[in-house]
Amino acid sequence: MSESRFRALLLRRSGEQIEAAVEHLDEDDLPAGDVLVRVRYSDVNYKDGLAITGTGHRQVVQHFPFVPGIDFAGVVERSDSDRFRPGDEVVLTGWGVGEKHWGGFAEKARVSAEWLVPLPTGMTMRQAMAYGTAGLSAMLCVDALERHGIDPKREVLVTGAGGGVGSVALLLLHRLGYHVVASSGRPEQEAYLRSLGAQSLVGRSTLAEPPAQPLLPERWGGVIDNVGGTTLAHALAGMAYGGAIASLGLVGGRDLNTTVLPFIMRGVALLGVDSVYCPTERRITAWRRLAELIPDGLPGESIEEIGLDELPARAAAIMKGHVRGRTIVAL
Ligand SMILES: NC(=O)c1ccc[n+]([C@@H]2O[C@H](COP(=O)([O-])OP(=O)(O)OC[C@H]3O[C@@H](n4cnc5c(N)ncnc54)[C@H](OP(=O)(O)O)[C@@H]3O)[C@@H](O)[C@H]2O)c1
Repeated sequence: MSESRFRALLLRRSGEQIEAAVEHLDEDDLPAGDVLVRVRYSDVNYKDGLAITGTGHRQVVQHFPFVPGIDFAGVVERSDSDRFRPGDEVVLTGWGVGEKHWGGFAEKARVSAEWLVPLPTGMTMRQAMAYGTAGLSAMLCVDALERHGIDPKREVLVTGAGGGVGSVALLLLHRLGYHVVASSGRPEQEAYLRSLGAQSLVGRSTLAEPPAQPLLPERWGGVIDNVGGTTLAHALAGMAYGGAIASLGLVGGRDLNTTVLPFIMRGVALLGVDSVYCPTERRITAWRRLAELIPDGLPGESIEEIGLDELPARAAAIMKGHVRGRTIVAL
């Protein structure tokens, strides 16, 4: 195969269906950008599951053919930007890559230098993709809760705990010394969740019910919520005075039916977290902090490695909530 040819997962639309298959592409097929990257690792997030399966409230991918993959780590091959030189190791998460601009499920990617950050010191490309958008977002949630201030005597709840964001969030909160409670729909994962630092568990179904009253007994000092919908409403009702929720996910629904009582009677804060368009400086700080708090990278049992060909099946599994921790893609 010539130097400029490479393998990629390509999405094509066929009627109402999205078809995903590994194809050979040429560098000339890649979209415009000032940096060409030889991708070494990518990873699978919930949004990649939505993109590959073509499901969700809005279709993540609108233009076809398309290479998905919202994250990648790799080595710069060519650069027209002063910021990067051939041989530099770089990481990309977000900025609409894998949604609007061709992404990381390919051996090569051409992107804007503005979207790249240097591989954090002390982290390998594989470790960086074991975190990916999920790990970065978990770190941003912890940062947001800490900026607000969490009462260290109170419990901190992580919903959707067995997933990518949830697993990293448990580990980070545990390393920072918080009393962490995991909410999961998979009781069989209890040993795994405890190994990451969860001290107790709450069943997913408990929080999926609307709260019996607008204000429940005060329990949570902080919450990292991957689920949204009734789960978020339930968590809000159970907040302790002055507590805060970092809301970043919607696997359980995008609607929020609640009352203002937690806000006006308990001074609770609802903090939105977005990692896609998060400013570069804040990203770099978050990556550095991830490396400091988890110097050895995520534990092996949180990571599964797959190849490009396995992506369609993995996307279907993540949509069913069957995936534990993080999936990385070796290229
Ligand atoms: N705002 C941002 O910038 C940002 C960044 C990253 C991710 N996100 C969002 O955060 C969420 C989590 O992402 P992820 O990559 O961690 O996904 P993931 O790996 O698929 O994890 C989601 C977890 O949620 C639980 N879950 C699945 N379906 C559920 C349902 N119907 N009701 C309640 N819980 C359910 C499962 O954990 P258990 O089996 O343990 O319950 C699942 O493992 C997604 O909505 C994603 O789009 C947002």
